[in-house]
Amino acid sequence: MKENSKTKDFYGRDFIVTKDVLIPRPETEQLIDMALDLSGKPYLPGVKPNKRVLPENPVILDVGTGSGCIAITLALELKEAKVYATDISGPALKIAQKNAQNLHASIITIISYLLEKVKDSTLPTPDIIVANLPYVDEAWPWLDKKALEKEPSIALYAKDHGLALIKELIAEASTIKTPYLILEADPCQHKSIEHYAKNNKYILQKTTGYILYFKNKDAI
Ligand SMILES: C[S@@+](CC[C@H](N)C(=O)[O-])C[C@H]1O[C@@H](n2cnc3c(N)ncnc32)[C@H](O)[C@@H]1O
Repeated sequence: MKENSKTKDFYGRDFIVTKDVLIPRPETEQLIDMALDLSGKPYLPGVKPNKRVLPENPVILDVGTGSGCIAITLALELKEAKVYATDISGPALKIAQKNAQNLHASIITIISYLLEKVKDSTLPTPDIIVANLPYVDEAWPWLDKKALEKEPSIALYAKDHGLALIKELIAEASTIKTPYLILEADPCQHKSIEHYAKNNKYILQKTTGYILYFKNKDAI
């Protein structure tokens, strides 16, 4: 392994991480659980899976893929899905591609500012958008900036109290009528996100830890 890269476990698999990507966090694993639940897949031993709400061969789009941990895990756990992964950072997408190759996962990577390139392309409308976008507010008094200094700022911080990119994504997803959204944000931001999403046709269905799951009231 190269000196400036290491690996981090995410959902039982090792992902290469470098200075160009966020180190996958344990709280993001609940986003995977939520997506598997919507696919009618058991995600905890002994727990009966819920009824499938996603189509049999879902198109999944992971926005802000970073190391690719979300997209790759979903591609491996849901073999029947077609998984797209976008990021604004070219170096991050290279790491995502490397991880996909190492873990034998099939994902399609696209460099894009949120859904910009997705809207321009021939890509089918995603059945579900999953995203762990930057949501850290630099003004949070409890923020330990020192602990985060090894990770890229573009992967961490967002304007408008950390909500700028999440709000933009919700509005764009609504424009292309994506039926389902699963987002990660700090629990202190959930109420504001729920309110904004509702004004953009997304009704909150469930929250677990850092994760919010929405359904578009017009698309289903
Ligand atoms: C919090 S990290 C999450 C990485 C990975 N999905 C994970 O959960 O570990 C956010 C990612 O979003 C990307 N990003 C930041 N702004 C973006 C934008 N406007 N459009 C697309 N991706 C963006 C960053 O480059 C970074 O890789």
